[in-house]
Amino acid sequence: MASRTPPRHVACIMDGNGRWAQHRGLERTQGHMAALAALDAVVDGALEQEVEWLSLFAFSTENWSRPAEEVGFLVNFLAQHFIGRKAQAMHERGVRLRVLGSEDARIPEVVMDSLRATEELTRDNSTLQVSLAFNYGGRQDLCEAAQSLVARRVPVREITPEIFAQHLRLPELPDVDLLLRTGGEHRLSNFLLWHCAYAELVFLDVLWPDFRVPHFRHALELYHQRRRRFGTVDPTDAADAAAPTAVTSDPRAPGPSALPGSSGLLGLPTAIASHLGATLWGGLKETARFTLQQLNGESAQPARSDRPS
Ligand code: IPE
Ligand code: IPE
Ligand code: MG
Repeated sequence: MASRTPPRHVACIMDGNGRWAQHRGLERTQGHMAALAALDAVVDGALEQEVEWLSLFAFSTENWSRPAEEVGFLVNFLAQHFIGRKAQAMHERGVRLRVLGSEDARIPEVVMDSLRATEELTRDNSTLQVSLAFNYGGRQDLCEAAQSLVARRVPVREITPEIFAQHLRLPELPDVDLLLRTGGEHRLSNFLLWHCAYAELVFLDVLWPDFRVPHFRHALELYHQRRRRFGTVDPTDAADAAAPTAVTSDPRAPGPSALPGSSGLLGLPTAIASHLGATLWGGLKETARFTLQQLNGESAQPARSDRPS
């Protein structure tokens, strides 16, 4: 039985602002403005679901290569709207804000000042820790950790994963349990590479400005259906494999017709055949969905996994 313990750390790649605006014939920057409502929603969702850490990818080290006008907007917008207006509200709700990212001379001082002031204002809060990834890159974080180890002359033999993690930007940041990305892209885009080693990945097609609390609940529901193994063998899997007529009770299973029995698909062992069957079924479903979208000319329709329950 999968655990119902809330994920301790949810990391969110808030993607799709530009497309949301373009679909409406608006400027991309208006998509970033519309993203504020989704920002409220993800914090509401995390508070409701008793998540301890919420990491939000606001601006990546690669985002500097966007057009100057958009970069300028993103960098200043954050200070004016998010920090200026949301800080007090977050504080009142027991949220502690942590800034995660590299310093950079291109970030206006007023922006860094207001981020630091919000960190200070909220420092004693503990209901939810929000780490705002601003000018953040996973590779940059790893490089800076390596630089820190060398600068502090840490002996090579002492460099374990635990010690290494202490040299990352935000050493307290726990491993990510659930990595959620909106906007339909299936990639990490250099976010929390170290922390996502064993994250469950959930990709939703919803564009970030449309994201609301039910989407968050839905993502958590998908998370709760996962079996996290961390390299070990799940006792339930072992029992399945040993059973003479294995019909899986896994809610993600493709359905009895696609499942191999004890003889196994193509004569493969049951566990392997089950996995193969599920993979093929998932691929077929995705192809069917895509084909329907193409036929209907609905390029931006949400996928089934997008629908909040
Ligand atoms: C995410 O939305 C916001 C940031 C990267 C700051 P995008 O701006 O990437 O939106 P799309 O992916 O182009 O639609
Ligand atoms: C990732 O989104 C960065 C943020 C959400 C801040 P991007 O839109 O920049 O990622 P790519 O370019 O599609 O990989
Ligand atoms: Mg994007």
